Amino acid sequence: MSQDELKQQVALAALQYIKPQLRPDAIIGVGTGSTANFFIDALAALKYDFKGAVASSEATAERLRGHGIEVFDLNEVSQLAVYVDGADEANRQLELIKGGGGALTREKVVASVAKMFVCIVDESKAVEMLGAFPLPVEVLPMARSSVARAITALGGQPIYRAGMLTDNGNIILDVHGLSISNAKEMENKLNNIVGVVTNGLFAQRSADVLLLATSEGVKTLTVINTPAGSGEFY
Ligand code: A5P
Repeated sequence: MSQDELKQQVALAALQYIKPQLRPDAIIGVGTGSTANFFIDALAALKYDFKGAVASSEATAERLRGHGIEVFDLNEVSQLAVYVDGADEANRQLELIKGGGGALTREKVVASVAKMFVCIVDESKAVEMLGAFPLPVEVLPMARSSVARAITALGGQPIYRAGMLTDNGNIILDVHGLSISNAKEMENKLNNIVGVVTNGLFAQRSADVLLLATSEGVKTLTVINTPAGSGEFY
């Protein structure tokens, strides 16, 4: 099965998973990227079963509108029943690296107001340790060099994503060379650097459910807490 077929399969599985949440007054959060695009295309078939969506990027908003799905400003909405989005990496605790497409900040904001975050990935995204995928960090343009120096001091190698501005008018530094054993701590450290808008670690607000497309079908993974406090796939 090709990677695109796996993405499509997991997008359809997500639609089935969130179906019980769809009500005439429900507004759902929708992520960004190629897997999220498959989800949006599938969601169009159920567009009369819910009120509308909050988009995590301009590209997603445009795609939703193209299907006739109403897009709401997040400021008009107090809570989302569910947020569905892809990821660049996911570990066993359902902590994620996101932002390969540069939409990390809006994704993090939308995920933060969702009761449930359903992450949809193909098996190439499942990892034991986060960090092989360069970690995107959104930065105010004027702070590019100072933030890059601070990230280097933390042990990463930041590479400026040239020619790319986020929907918020900021730049992205992709941080190579991090082996992230404590994702929550790293997320906090990076967010504490002055000039960082946000970083692509989703550990403080990890996924609640991971739908993982494999050649044997889609697996549904959640985390159970062990007595030691660490999570394991369930
Ligand atoms: C967008 O900024 C990202 O967070 C995407 O959600 C992530 O990169 C996954 O994208 P794909 O589904 O295209 O792999």
